[in-house]
Amino acid sequence: MDNLDQLLSQATAAFSASADINALEQAKAVFLGKSGSVTELLKGLGKLDPDERKRAGAEINRCKAAIEQALEARREALRAAQLELQLAAKALDVTLPGRGRGRGGLHPVVRTQERFETLFRSIGFEVADGPEIEEDWFNFTALNTPEKHPARSMHDTFYIEGVQDVLLRTHTSPVQIRSMQAHATRYKDAEVMPDLRIIAPGRVYRVDSDATHSPMFHQVEGLWVGENISFAGLKGVIVDFLQRFFETDEMQVRFRPSFFPFTEPSAEIDFAFMSGPNKGRWLEIAGCGMVHPNVLRNGGVDPARYTGFAFGMGLDRLAMLRYGVNDLRLFFDNDLRFLAQFQD
Ligand code: DAH
Repeated sequence: MDNLDQLLSQATAAFSASADINALEQAKAVFLGKSGSVTELLKGLGKLDPDERKRAGAEINRCKAAIEQALEARREALRAAQLELQLAAKALDVTLPGRGRGRGGLHPVVRTQERFETLFRSIGFEVADGPEIEEDWFNFTALNTPEKHPARSMHDTFYIEGVQDVLLRTHTSPVQIRSMQAHATRYKDAEVMPDLRIIAPGRVYRVDSDATHSPMFHQVEGLWVGENISFAGLKGVIVDFLQRFFETDEMQVRFRPSFFPFTEPSAEIDFAFMSGPNKGRWLEIAGCGMVHPNVLRNGGVDPARYTGFAFGMGLDRLAMLRYGVNDLRLFFDNDLRFLAQFQD
């Protein structure tokens, strides 16, 4: 039937012209809807006689099926096009070069600490640790620092409000007591206590703030306790360390008599480079001395049998000298423009 063929091509053309799903649904209604062309034709069948009705009915149904097929094909094409569009909009260009990751670096003070640890490990020292929130007894009393000592003043350190006898440690020296106690306990049944050799790097706190002082700074404690430990040994260890740390023999080191409650005799360690930008300038680097008998006793070590030397060095000071930094506060401002200069 010509008019059925025509109807099919009209429908196909209308579907193709539909640019989206909505337009397609409207086009569908024109042909297949309740009062669409095909539906009207089917309604007209009733007027035909039975034979004719059967033949015409079959043809109309074939046409209807063909229109439905064309509709479905267009629907599919529109869906695919829509998906293409979406994919294109969210496209990932996997050929673009990556953004890269910023590379982190170790803080100059941490680098200095690691260097310190490496050098001392190489001569048999172990790295020890102690709490930054410390008991008054470990920080002062056990270190032979009497009740009225000026270092115990409220102005010189940070106490914890509402908690008695607890403070932010003002130096790493309390680790001496903790390490000696642990060591002495461990070897309490031994005939001879093996030497105790530790360094204890870490943060310490004081109420102090200017270009060379910060309320938080870093120290390294050193302690060697055993039989026949002498001041000569102390000098050897310190001089050797400074030469290796700064990678030069071109320096002078002096031990200037001083006072610390926890050592007797006590000294300050100064050194001066014999070349370079700091040539001839004496720099104060540490306090040191022979461990006071009371301190050994508080650590559980018999002062009649054992002796020891100790020192406390400013780690930030060493970092400043090594890297040529003249303001301590730069280390703690966390300004990346400064810190990035210390990457490898
Ligand atoms: N703890 C002292 C301070 O912070 C430094 C010090 C001096 C440590 C002499 C020692 C020492 O171990 O023997 O000022």
